[in-house]
Amino acid sequence: MRAASQAQPNIALVKYWGKRDAALNLPVVGSISITLESLWTRTDVRFVPGHKEDRVSLNGRSDEAEGKRIKACLNLLRERAGVDYGAEVASRNNFPTAAGLASSASGFAALVHAGARALGLDLSLAEQSVLARRCSGSAARSLFGGYVEWAHGTLADGTDSVARPLLDAEAWPLRVAVAITSTAAKQVGSTEGMRRTAETSPYQSAWIDTQETDLGVARDAIRERDFDALARIAEYSCLKMHALALAAQPGLLYWNGATVECMHRVRALRQQGVPVFFTVDAGPQVKAVCAPSAIEQVKAALRDVAGVLDVLDTALGEGARAIVPEA
Ligand code: PMV
Repeated sequence: MRAASQAQPNIALVKYWGKRDAALNLPVVGSISITLESLWTRTDVRFVPGHKEDRVSLNGRSDEAEGKRIKACLNLLRERAGVDYGAEVASRNNFPTAAGLASSASGFAALVHAGARALGLDLSLAEQSVLARRCSGSAARSLFGGYVEWAHGTLADGTDSVARPLLDAEAWPLRVAVAITSTAAKQVGSTEGMRRTAETSPYQSAWIDTQETDLGVARDAIRERDFDALARIAEYSCLKMHALALAAQPGLLYWNGATVECMHRVRALRQQGVPVFFTVDAGPQVKAVCAPSAIEQVKAALRDVAGVLDVLDTALGEGARAIVPEA
């Protein structure tokens, strides 16, 4: 009753922001993402018949808030398997947790992938994506590698709000430089941020109304490997999401000074003909997506920005997969 899995974070190019059903984590809009390669979560899950309690360790420590979400996710798996055994979960990330780097996406994708196997559940990746979505929305996308679309869906039970792969990583091997501008945990989590936005931002309906068009443009750009078109739609979607959140009351300002300066640097590079664009999630880090030939130049430019603490570099990677449990 033990299994281990690895999953990587994903970064949305057409963003998800807003829930139409908070309990089921159903989004108000579809979204498109890329799955990363060298940042990972590795999670080991063991169910122990007779045990009532769950024991959870994250990066070697217990974390009460995340522990609660992990237990809720384990409950979904137990419900599916019809058992009530307690679990021992050990999960670690090789990158900073809870700083806008989608650690919850890789974390819950790895947890569902390992937990389902530990319970002997024979679930397709699509079924795992639905379960992962209920634990953390963007986790639905990390089951798959490369370019991924998470559908808005139309069913009330959410079974069609699921991710699917659009294109393999090797078919268009872009690179991503991640400028870390702060390692502090964010002040307003995405769930609270989305709730506040939906209740107070005057741009909410415009956001929802324009998303289908953006998704179509991004799908076409990915199918045609059209870098300039992808760059335009991704920066547009990112800035539109932040404009929506900035207009909430009180406004959600996820950027610091270095975040903004990194965005300027990326645009200056692109004006010089370097194939690169930025995207920023609900945190201060800047992800610069570029052609493989540009990665060193992009990293050097970001490292040069005052306030940038570190620049990570990753290719695009695969979806969740089984790994050998550590001793
Ligand atoms: O799934 P969550 O609750 O981590 O929210 C993700 C929201 C963004 O990262 C800002 C956008 C996205 O599509 O990933």
